[in-house]
Amino acid sequence: MIENRIQELVTILNKANYEYHTLDQPTLTDQEYDKYLRELIELEEQYPDLIVADSPTQRIGGEVIDEFNKVVHEVPMLSLSNVFNEDEIVLFDERVKKVVTNPTYVCELKIDGLSVSLLYQDGKLVRAATRGDGMVGEDITHNVKTIKNIPLTLTEKVDIEVRGEIYMSKKAFTRLNEERLVAGEVPFANPRNAAAGSVRQLDSKIAAKRNLSAFLYHLPSASAYGIHTHYESLEYMQKLGFTTNPNIRLVGNIDELLEYVDNWTTDRDSLPYEIDGIVIKLNDLQDQERLGYTIKYPKWATAYKFPATLVLTKLKEIKFTVGRTGQVTPNAMLEPVILMGSTISKTTLHNEEYVTSRDIRIGDTVAIKKAGDVIPEVVEVVADRRDGSEIPFEMTQTCPICHSDLVKKEAAYYCVNPHCDAKRIEGLIHYASRDTLNIDGFGDNIVEDFYNMGYLKHVSDFYHLKEHKKELMQLEGFGKKSIENLLQAIEDSKQNPLDRLLFALGIRYVGKKTAKILAREFGHIDALAKASYDDLVAIRDIGEVIAQSVSLYFQDPDHLAEIKRLKLAGVNMSYQEEYEFNSEFQDKTFVLTGSLQSITREAAKEKIEIMGGTVTGGVSKKTDVVIVGEKPGSKYKKAQALGIEIWTEEEFLAKCQ
Ligand code: IVH
Repeated sequence: MIENRIQELVTILNKANYEYHTLDQPTLTDQEYDKYLRELIELEEQYPDLIVADSPTQRIGGEVIDEFNKVVHEVPMLSLSNVFNEDEIVLFDERVKKVVTNPTYVCELKIDGLSVSLLYQDGKLVRAATRGDGMVGEDITHNVKTIKNIPLTLTEKVDIEVRGEIYMSKKAFTRLNEERLVAGEVPFANPRNAAAGSVRQLDSKIAAKRNLSAFLYHLPSASAYGIHTHYESLEYMQKLGFTTNPNIRLVGNIDELLEYVDNWTTDRDSLPYEIDGIVIKLNDLQDQERLGYTIKYPKWATAYKFPATLVLTKLKEIKFTVGRTGQVTPNAMLEPVILMGSTISKTTLHNEEYVTSRDIRIGDTVAIKKAGDVIPEVVEVVADRRDGSEIPFEMTQTCPICHSDLVKKEAAYYCVNPHCDAKRIEGLIHYASRDTLNIDGFGDNIVEDFYNMGYLKHVSDFYHLKEHKKELMQLEGFGKKSIENLLQAIEDSKQNPLDRLLFALGIRYVGKKTAKILAREFGHIDALAKASYDDLVAIRDIGEVIAQSVSLYFQDPDHLAEIKRLKLAGVNMSYQEEYEFNSEFQDKTFVLTGSLQSITREAAKEKIEIMGGTVTGGVSKKTDVVIVGEKPGSKYKKAQALGIEIWTEEEFLAKCQ
């Protein structure tokens, strides 16, 4: 029977996969594997109805999604507290010992990847999700199915959620970057970014090519499976077919714990994947509960983070750049060095004081530090490498672009020439960027090129580009389609609410949050323009500095003329709250539980807040209403027990109308 043969082939191939990718003990040769796989592919092509969900062919990729669906984590995906040295590890142990006598810990490597939640029903993988903000993540099932050491079927038909880390090995990372360079693509900075970029693809064929792997390290509801310790969770996960990290150790005292940390601090480079620390977890699950949680972290675990890596390089030159506000910043141009996987050839030196206080000179050998995601920094000068040829730093007194004299305000120097090209270009880039008017397609280079060619000088010029459509289409690198897309994006951007426009205009001290406060308060740009300093300063959350800056901005005739041009072009100048204050919500405290079907948790929270309510995490006597989605958790039971008002999702949405 064909069906039986297909099942047989799936079993053989999945077993071989497990032996190869999880146990690291292959039993089939590559040729044998390929032979079985080819036979399976042929049969599946002939009998597509007989393809089973856990067939290895389902890992090849090909599923393309339109967008990432949101996933609400039943149990929030918490992060870990950090410790940075031995003393802090000892303090952690002492805190634990206040609650637990003779604690046993599990020490694990902290894999530098991205966390994932895997959901199995009846032993079959049904959903994989990113951590997101811990409460709501994104559905990445299509990509996770392509990861070869994540089982599509477990050895037992259980309903279970497991969590772990998706990562890219050093070897896969190097190979991928080599390929990208050959293809003229920008290489990834480090394996973590490469792994994260791969699971954030809509087309699973890309993830399938990326050679990702996973270690599983957490079973959120372990006790429901009769498990009593974290170590048993790991053993159970292994039994189900998951890969757990082979370097996990049980330790019975602080000396053993510190020894583990010491050993891996020295040996980390010998691993085939990157780690950024050590995770220490209390082993006994009852002990874990005794220690409990904060909103962000379990108190029963912590992560020791390795110290930031330092590398030495030569500082070749200091170049000045001008930002949108006119601030002139010194930048170190470096002899390129590789630091934690990325090549660094330039880094900011912040301001004059930063350079002089460290006595950084041109020609110096400097130590560069990079900690995690943070931008690299020059930490210090290696003074004994000086040979006398180094040139002391001098802050420029003129703008590097328009050469007008700079004005010093506190630690920073500013170019105050309103016509300075650099400032204007930065201002135009800001206007089109994602957090402001979000004009799709207008990257920094296009804005700069259009500026230099004379098409863009003021922000209102964006709306006149359509008058040059024919010329623009002739430009090198552009065509009919790309110019039409740019023009359409400009049209679409006119509908943005006032707060985005206010942020986009680049009024000093008016960031995203302040722009929203002003837009809400005044509703229309004309009302804001008429507001006096006193009107502004009277607003909650608006201080003297912002009030002065805003009122000065609207006194400038050039600014008013520009706003008029934007108005004439049809740019929206008003702000309307999406919802009115609503007595069903005003001054009430809400808790959301379960998974909402037609709205994300974040959107629901926003609606409630706009209508005057507050959303909190846990149910207490102070909670007024609990909104329940599907499969609500313990919060629902608690709400019932406390007699708190309960709304279904439909009831909630109806009350929003
Ligand atoms: S345990 C409640 N174990 O580190 C348990 N996390 O900084 C939470 N990570 O978000 C996680 N290796 O992405 C755990 N062996 C390990 C880990 C690990 C890497 C990541 C994970 C987590 C982050 C916290």
